[in-house]
Amino acid sequence: MNTNHSLPEIIQGGMGVGVSSWQLARQVSMNGQLGVVSGTAVAVTFSRRLQEPATAELMRRILDEFPFPEIAKRVADKYQPVSEQRGDKYKMIAMPTIQQSKDAIELMVVANYAEVKLAKQGHQGLIGVNLLEKLQAPTLPSLYGAILADVDYVLMGAGIPTRIPGVITDLALNKDTSLPIKIANDTQTEPTLAHFSPTTFADGAPLPTLKRPKFLAIISSATLAMHLMRASTGAPDGFIVEHNIAGGHNAPPRGKYDLNENGEPIYGVRDEIDIQAIAAIGLPFWLAGGYGNRDQVLAAQALGSQGVQVGTAFALCEESGLNLELKLEILDALKTGGATVKTDPLASPTGFPFKVVDLKGTIGEKETGDQRKRICDLGYLREPYRKENGTIGYRCPSEPVDDYVKKGGNIEDTVGRRCLCNGLVATMGLGQERKDGSVELPIITAGDDLKFVLRFLAKGQLLYKAVDVLKVLLGEKFKPLHQ
Ligand SMILES: Cc1cc2nc3c(=O)[nH]c(=O)nc-3n(C[C@H](O)[C@H](O)[C@H](O)COP(=O)(O)O)c2cc1C
Repeated sequence: MNTNHSLPEIIQGGMGVGVSSWQLARQVSMNGQLGVVSGTAVAVTFSRRLQEPATAELMRRILDEFPFPEIAKRVADKYQPVSEQRGDKYKMIAMPTIQQSKDAIELMVVANYAEVKLAKQGHQGLIGVNLLEKLQAPTLPSLYGAILADVDYVLMGAGIPTRIPGVITDLALNKDTSLPIKIANDTQTEPTLAHFSPTTFADGAPLPTLKRPKFLAIISSATLAMHLMRASTGAPDGFIVEHNIAGGHNAPPRGKYDLNENGEPIYGVRDEIDIQAIAAIGLPFWLAGGYGNRDQVLAAQALGSQGVQVGTAFALCEESGLNLELKLEILDALKTGGATVKTDPLASPTGFPFKVVDLKGTIGEKETGDQRKRICDLGYLREPYRKENGTIGYRCPSEPVDDYVKKGGNIEDTVGRRCLCNGLVATMGLGQERKDGSVELPIITAGDDLKFVLRFLAKGQLLYKAVDVLKVLLGEKFKPLHQ
């Protein structure tokens, strides 16, 4: 066994948007394991929390130590609490683009800083930030914000994060850095780069000394692990090896694949992960997907891993960012065999299979999802593409069909797509309410393990806590609260 005790045994997986909240990550971290916040779309959720009277003051206070006070003030001043209904409930923010405005960059940096800083308050435990590789435009400012807040780990999957180790090194040294951006239909030979300059961001203010966080790549194959090891700008510091029963996005089956009778992708032998080959690399790794009890953790460690990354069990606990009413509804539905999980090959605009919970009143329910009027106003999942005139445009298969087709998108790609941006933000209870009376409804993702979460609920309890999950996962090794 390759268990290194300075490394956590349990990683509470990053769950966007906001399900792995700072409250959840902080609890896990204070109990000696790795708590992870989601950095995905926190610019949206932070701007909305600044506007929500119940959270506005805390969001402003956490910025007191932001190293660049003028920037923090500019951001906080822009998103004043909503006092009375005027137009849409929340002020909109700029959609992410490769070359972003100063305002948009400031909000992304500040929002990621705030989420990590809140999670790190008042203890010495480890905190990580999770980002999705596919969401390219926000990556550099998000990473810089998290590093400014002294984040300990960066975890990134949903793509091939070859350049991320080098980028993290640059940002931790306050060096200018860049990231090649994938552009659909590109005709140009030179890569398009997104840039970030800490010096320009700080606008002449002194730059603080920063720590380089460790980088864990989330992968689903030994081939990808080996590819990342060969990257010229640096290798990861470890791996999360995620099986396709995990919540959130899943790697698609290799090659052309069939669907089962429920319309879910069928995985085969080629999709089995060669754990031995990953262990042979010699870096620490954690297994993810369906690890919900002590025996499973021990079985994972017997394969050479440090332990496991768990999402679904934490997603339903009291401290997670999932809206309380939804949590209770899911737990109730589970008691009668409801809230089933489907691996939907179409729902996500990314084209990756995405696990969706079938729950009434959410866009995970087919009829409700089909009825949603298409609107694209958050834009995190828009894909950059090269227009005929050589400039870059942005499109998303969940946007209005005509718009997508006008931008050169295939009409077939729009079928069955859901607006994950608005849906996932609504799952936190921060959904937009528009002046025309329409309200964005939630969408819930969870792993196949969802049906087992009732095991964490003691008799007579309505909810369980993050420590209840840790107790089950760690057994006798569980040590309460380390501060
Ligand atoms: C609600 C939810 C949202 C998730 N969102 C993300 C995400 O934004 N980024 C990511 O890398 N993984 C995401 N995941 C995957 C988890 O980080 C974790 O790897 C996975 O949940 C482990 O499998 P389990 O669900 O069986 O515990 C999500 C999982 C859930 C349940």
